[in-house]
Formats: sequence, C-alpha cells, structure tokens
Amino acid sequence: MAGDRPAQAVILAGGQGTRLRPLTLARAKPVVPLLNRPLLAYQLALLREHGVTDVVLACSYRVDDIRAALGDAGHLGMKLRYAVEKEPLGTGGGVKNAADLVSGTLFVLNGDILTDADLTAMRRYHTERGSRTTIFLQPVDDPRQYGLVETDATGRLGRFREKPTADAEITTDTVNAGIYLIETALLGRIPADRPSSIEREFFPALIADGVPSYGWCAPAYWRDIGNPGAYREAQMDLLAGRARMLLPPPGQGDQGSWVGAGGTAARDARVVPPAVVGQRVALHPRCQVGPAAVIGDGSTIGPDARVEGAVLWERVEVGSGAVLHECVIGADVKIGAHARVGSGVVLESGAVIPERTTLTR
Ligand code: GDD
Ligand code: MG
Repeated sequence: MAGDRPAQAVILAGGQGTRLRPLTLARAKPVVPLLNRPLLAYQLALLREHGVTDVVLACSYRVDDIRAALGDAGHLGMKLRYAVEKEPLGTGGGVKNAADLVSGTLFVLNGDILTDADLTAMRRYHTERGSRTTIFLQPVDDPRQYGLVETDATGRLGRFREKPTADAEITTDTVNAGIYLIETALLGRIPADRPSSIEREFFPALIADGVPSYGWCAPAYWRDIGNPGAYREAQMDLLAGRARMLLPPPGQGDQGSWVGAGGTAARDARVVPPAVVGQRVALHPRCQVGPAAVIGDGSTIGPDARVEGAVLWERVEVGSGAVLHECVIGADVKIGAHARVGSGVVLESGAVIPERTTLTR
C-alpha cells in the first residue's frame, strides 16, 4: 500500500500576513511566537507525531526570519528544506515550486493554522477511498472568510468556492481547513511559470475533471491564526487546555506555569497559572503575571504591575502599577507607569506608551 511509505510535507509559509498587522511588520507570520515558540514549530511537532519528518517550507516573503527561527530543524530529528520563490507564486505556485523535492503522497499545510488534527487518520481515509486529493474540512460559524467546500454523502468533493461574496453562494458552513493530501503526480496540473491559487484554480479544476477528490471532516482543535484576535485566542486555548499542547512551552513547568532560566523574581511577585514566563524576565515586587499570560524573553514587569490574559513579546518593559488586560504587545515596547492597556489592543513592536495613558480598542 502506497500509504505505508512515510509521507513528505510542504508547508505554505510565503504569505505576507497582512491581516495580522501590526505584528507581522516585525516578524513573518509563520514564526510569530505562540507561548514563546514559533507557530511553525507546532506544525512540525504535529507532522513528526504522525511520522512525517521530511518537510519543505514554501517561502517567499521574509524567508530569513523563518530560517532564523527554525534553521534546519535537525535538532528535532526532522529534515527541513526551503523552496524560495523569487516573486510570490500564490498557494498553487508555492507548492509547484517545491515539486522537485517531493514525491508520492504529499501533505500540504497552510502555515498559519494551529491544529491537532489526526493526520494518520486522514491519510488512512485518503488511501482507503483511493482519493487523489483529500482536503481537511471543519465546520465554522462564519464561513465567508474561508474556502467553502461541498461534499456528497460519500465525502467526494462537489464544489470548492474560495471566499464567495454573494449571500446566495454561502451554501455550507464546512470550510477548507488548510491541510491537503495530494498525489504529487497531480502537481503537473499547476502552471510553473506564473502565480496560481490552489483554492481558486487547482481544486475546482480537479472537481470539474472528475479526479477522485474527497473531504475529510473530523473533530479536532483548529484555528486560523489570521488576525491579532485569533493570535491571542489561540494562546489562551493552549493555556486553558482547549488546544492540546503539541509542544510544552520553554522553561521549567510547574502546575500550569512555565518559567524560563536566568530571570529574577521578587519574593512577593506572583505568577498565577496558567502562565508562561520567558528567559531572563525580571518580576518586581508585588507584580502579578497571569492567569493566562505569556511574557517574552528579557521582559521586565514593574512593581505592582498586572498582566492578565495578555501576550507580550520579547524585551517588553512594563512600568510600575501598569495594568495589561487581554492585549498583545510587540517586542521592545515600553509601557509607562500606571498605564492601562485594555482588551483587544495590539501594540506594534517598539511602541512607547507614556505614563498613565489608557488604551482601549
Ligand atoms: N509560498 C507561498 N507563496 N505561500 C503563500 C503565498 C505565496 O505566494 N501566499 C499565501 N501563502 C501561504 C500563507 O502564508 C498561508 O500559510 C497560506 O498560504 C494560506 O494563505 P492565507 O493568506 O492565510 O489564506 P486565507 O487564510 O485567507 O485562506 C486560506 O486558508 C483558509 C483556512 O485557514 C485558504 O486556503 C482557505 O480556503 C482556507 O479556508
Ligand atoms: Mg490564513
């Protein structure tokens, strides 16, 4: 059975991450930190868990960021290669550009999803059906920002419509969840010389041509980390146990708190679980970090400051008495004393917030 061969994977990691701005002004979307580890590290962990250790990253935009964060992943026992597009080739062209490095049955993943999908079961389904392309599907509340996928009673794809605009076209709440199994022989159908969309061109053409293609819908945790709200929520899900931690956060874990090395903590500073505190973090007297807080490496939390439901990148300085609630703070931000940063606020890396300022969304 061909399905017994270890599969390879291509991860699409070349998008600009426009909707995740301002966070993606400072760092490529595929490597924004989730609990102080790059997003793609979770995808690599999932693939490895399912026996896929040969992975090609299809990159264009900010490939240096991605290399810096992941390297060759040799330390994870994985083989990681980069297929770099000179100009962005879209989701179809990105896979095509990696085609020389892969063969057989291929996993393709959108590089911005967090999921614990059972890829072994997906592969079994693909093989048992004799499917040539299988799409992981999920039901969602509002399907309009996704690719809508209709299947028949046997699971065979009937229609794929990417982000339809007319209400009459919203015929299902089942969407493309951004993981595919594709027989690489089909990659010949993708043009090599121009950008193309796997969603708008490749899938509809497979359906039109009657190539056996199926949807695989199974319960799983799944989230597209496409905007800052989803980015924060994904980490809250990991901390609260709604999403399985495919990787433990860095640092020493103790009953729902993880604290990195090299930091200092006043005796009366409090870390309230769940919380992740990076390396070399200074926790000043009476400050409170958590519940549900993520503090990046090298940050300082001033006396009496409180950080709850919030995600801080590296080297953030929180002044005394400041309160950060359910917000996302980029790297090297300085929050003045007694400032208040409220729910839904996202601060760009390097921002400076004066003392006693109140920021709300
Ligand atoms: N290599 C490469 N080159 N990758 C790209 C390019 C490109 O030119 N353009 C986008 N990508 C990558 C992105 O980095 C991302 O990982 C993935 O392709 C999907 O692009 P998004 O821009 O995030 O698409 P989306 O979220 O609007 O929609 C996609 O994902 C949904 C599920 O999360 C589609 O696949 C939808 O059909 C799907 O429902
Ligand atoms: Mg996306």
